[in-house]
Amino acid sequence: MARSALLNVMTQAATKAGRSLTRDFGEVQNLQVSMKGPADYVSAADRKAEEIVFQELSRARPEWGFLMEERGAVEGRDPEHRWIVDPLDGTTNFLHGIPHFAVSIALERAGEIVAGVVFNPATDELYTAERGGGAFSNDRRLRVAARGKLNDALIGCGAPFLGHGDHARFLYEARNIMANTAGIRRFGAASLDLVAVAAGRLDAFWEHALAPWDCAAGSIIVREAGGIVTALDGSRFDPIAGDIACGNEAIHKALLDQLKRADDAIRMTKTSAA
Ligand code: IPD
Ligand code: CA
Ligand code: CA
Ligand code: CA
Repeated sequence: MARSALLNVMTQAATKAGRSLTRDFGEVQNLQVSMKGPADYVSAADRKAEEIVFQELSRARPEWGFLMEERGAVEGRDPEHRWIVDPLDGTTNFLHGIPHFAVSIALERAGEIVAGVVFNPATDELYTAERGGGAFSNDRRLRVAARGKLNDALIGCGAPFLGHGDHARFLYEARNIMANTAGIRRFGAASLDLVAVAAGRLDAFWEHALAPWDCAAGSIIVREAGGIVTALDGSRFDPIAGDIACGNEAIHKALLDQLKRADDAIRMTKTSAA
C-alpha cells in the first residue's frame, strides 16, 4: 500500500519524535519534570518531542498552523489547515517507567479532522488514517471488532484523577459497565485507547473531557476502521469538547445505553436528596 505524501509527512514527524521519546525513556529518572496543575506533569521529553514535530511539520507545510499541548496555538498563514499535536500522550505512564505512551498528530482542514497518525514507540506500531482512505497499522488494514454482545465486550475508559473530572459520575458509569461486560481497562494514553478500538482489541471506549490533541487523530482512525464515534449522549463528536464514546455499531449503542442509565441514576440520587 503506497502511503499518501501527507501521511508520509505526518509519519516522519511522529516516528522521529517517538525515537526521541524512546531515548528519554531510558533516562527517565534524570529528566526535568514540572507541574502545570494538580497531577498534570510535563517533562523535558514532552518538550523535545514537541519541538521535533513542530520543526518537521513546519518544514513540510510552512503555511499551516498548530494546536499543540505544550506550545499552545501557533497561527499559520493558511487559515484552512491546522495540525493538532500531542507530542507525548501518556506522560504519567512515561514518568512511572510504564512503556505505554504515544505521539499523536491530526490534521484539521476547514474545521474537520481529515487525517491522523498515532505512533507507539515501545511496540513500534504506527497507526494512520486519511478521510475516505481507510485505517492502517504498519500498512495492514484495520477493522473494528465484530463482537455484537455487550456481555462479551472489553471496554476501555479514561478515569478521573486528582483535580480532574467528576469522580462520582465515573463510579456510576464504571459500575454499570463492569457489571455488564467482560471487563474494563484504563491504560492511560487516550490516543492508544482509540487505536485499540480501531484495531478491534477493545470493543469500545469512553472518556470525558479529553483535550483535542488526545482524541483528534484517534477519532479519524476509529472512523476509518468502520467504528462509530460520538459524544457521550450520542450527539456529534467535537474534539474541542473532548467527550467521546466509540466502538463498533452494536457495542457503541450498548455503551451509550449504560452511560444513560448511569446518568439517570445520578439524577435520581440528586432528586431524592433534594
Ligand atoms: C492524558 C492521557 C490520559 C487521559 C488524560 C490525558 P497526557 O494525556 O491521554 O489517558 O486520561 O485525560 O490528559 O497528559 O498524558 O498527554
Ligand atoms: Ca499532559
Ligand atoms: Ca494526551
Ligand atoms: Ca501530552
